[in-house]
Amino acid sequence: MKDNMLEYQPSLVGKIARVIIPFLQKSLPTKVYKIIYDTLYNSYKNMLRVGYFLKYYFYSIFGNKEQKLKVKLVWRLLKYTMGGRKALENAFDVVKSIESRNIEGALVECGVAEGGTAAMLALSSSILGEHKRIKWFFDSYEGLPEPTMEDYVGGKVGDFIRPLPKGSCLGTIEQVSELMFDVLNMSKSEVNLVKGWFQDTVPVEKNKIGKIAVLRLDGDWYESTKIPLDNFYSQISPGGIVIIDDYGTCFGSKRAVDEFIFENKILTTIYSDGRGGVWFQKP
Ligand SMILES: C[S@@+](CC[C@H](N)C(=O)[O-])C[C@H]1O[C@@H](n2cnc3c(N)ncnc32)[C@H](O)[C@@H]1O
Repeated sequence: MKDNMLEYQPSLVGKIARVIIPFLQKSLPTKVYKIIYDTLYNSYKNMLRVGYFLKYYFYSIFGNKEQKLKVKLVWRLLKYTMGGRKALENAFDVVKSIESRNIEGALVECGVAEGGTAAMLALSSSILGEHKRIKWFFDSYEGLPEPTMEDYVGGKVGDFIRPLPKGSCLGTIEQVSELMFDVLNMSKSEVNLVKGWFQDTVPVEKNKIGKIAVLRLDGDWYESTKIPLDNFYSQISPGGIVIIDDYGTCFGSKRAVDEFIFENKILTTIYSDGRGGVWFQKP
């Protein structure tokens, strides 16, 4: 079963960016375009962060402890994620749900980039949870691979603000190590950063992971969604949650999820995160 909000609903800023960014990319030299893109993107993120900073003070007076914690973590982690504020908020809500129901297992993300949503999973669990959970963060740490033919619909791979060539969405393992261990002071015994293509790493590491409480899929493409689903789903505890960040924006990711749910006759409801990402609970 699916709720009826699963299609990607870009915000007003997203709609404007979809017109302006491709125009700038076509008309400007690459270096100039990159400087302008980075400046616009960083200003947008800083603006959002100011909003969360103000919300934090609002919730300090009028909100409850969890609302305050959530906006504080979003404010702190926004600069490390490509997923944006709703992806972070959704990661927080999902962790809150598995912690409140005591669902057993590790936290796994496939598609980490600079580590923002992975850090949200880890931090919110260590603050809200009673027991420590082991975290597994898989990425090439070299950016995206090429899409395959299963990703294409009508000559396009998805609905993006800008094209995603091989190597894009790059976060290096050094950046993520710095974030996890130096900035956030997480314990090295609890966080595993696994470098390499999912095709090679996921089947090899899966037996070390054991039960999984949250599986967050953010690899954009068909293969990058299908491989972790095929390998990890049986390890997810009943009541555990699968998040698919790219369901509404990447055609191949949606296809991999729909095929998996259909072929495995999984009776569940897919919920929207409000911007194109979705999540469902394992029955
Ligand atoms: C959109 S980014 C992830 C964003 C991230 N979750 C965040 O919070 O910003 C997609 C990531 O998936 C990784 N990726 C995609 N397919 C992969 C594959 N087959 N093997 C390894 N990494 C892959 C890319 O390297 C990239 O870092």
